[in-house]
Amino acid sequence: MRFQNKVVFITGGTKGLGKAMAQAFLAEGASVAVNGRNKEAAEKFTEEFKGRQALAFEGDISDYDTMEATASRVYETLGKVDILINNAGIVNPLVPSVKMKKEDFNKVIDINLKGTFYTTQIFGKRMIQQGSGRIVSIASQVALFGEKGFLPYAISKSGLMVMTRQLAYEWSKSGVTLCAVAPGFIKGGMNEALIKKEVFVNYLSGRTPIGRMATVGELVATILFLASDDAAYINGETIVMDGGMTGYTSEGLLDFLSKGK
Ligand SMILES: NC(=O)c1ccc[n+]([C@@H]2O[C@H](COP(=O)([O-])OP(=O)(O)OC[C@H]3O[C@@H](n4cnc5c(N)ncnc54)[C@H](OP(=O)(O)O)[C@@H]3O)[C@@H](O)[C@H]2O)c1
Repeated sequence: MRFQNKVVFITGGTKGLGKAMAQAFLAEGASVAVNGRNKEAAEKFTEEFKGRQALAFEGDISDYDTMEATASRVYETLGKVDILINNAGIVNPLVPSVKMKKEDFNKVIDINLKGTFYTTQIFGKRMIQQGSGRIVSIASQVALFGEKGFLPYAISKSGLMVMTRQLAYEWSKSGVTLCAVAPGFIKGGMNEALIKKEVFVNYLSGRTPIGRMATVGELVATILFLASDDAAYINGETIVMDGGMTGYTSEGLLDFLSKGK
């Protein structure tokens, strides 16, 4: 029970990876509040976890006033927030950058980058007042290497890594520390539809030195570790959880030479 008496707020916790995190925090004794844009998903979450210390709010992280109101309601109901998980995020339509529509670019930046900063500032200022807090943001491995089609997503996620380092410098002396995770491709969440196709799973597994996609459980375990006291000295850092893909080259020189080319 690592999170007994702790209060956790997870953005985008109504479904996907965020919901799996919510379940794991609840199982380890925490009170959990989540949000998401979809009203029905928020209501479903509340219904599913009835009788537990779980709350769900409808709201868009890119709307500053909505997030201010959500934070006020969370503090009124649960008294404090010890841990903020910046999980909510969307991916852009995968197209070459020359064809990227301005609207698609802006939407990803508005949600993933601006919305995550708004949420971090809104909860962070309350954490600074209470003298303690831990903020864990979900970045992505595509912020670390070139991956065609992902430009606004990669920019937004690299922005979260920079935000994590900057705010750790600014806020740590007030008791608020931050870290981030850059995961590889996970077998769940936004990939739910794609992983039904074996050819897709095999393609990504083949690109990963470890030979498979990450499980949802592996991401959840990393998040809970980083949110726990065991990781208290990890501050300002982004932990890469990618099965080795970031360091991977499709064909090394030795492989090339071994083929007698
Ligand atoms: N799955 C992967 O392979 C993978 C890999 C690396 C990083 N990540 C990151 O992990 C995080 C979770 O992804 P996922 O795979 O669980 O995606 P998902 O299944 O699409 O879930 C995303 C969650 O975020 C919420 N959300 C989206 N935009 C929002 C907004 N503007 N305000 C509030 N909530 C919002 C969604 O709810 P509503 O639609 O109702 O708003 C949903 O609950 C994302 O940041 C993603 O970039 C995922």
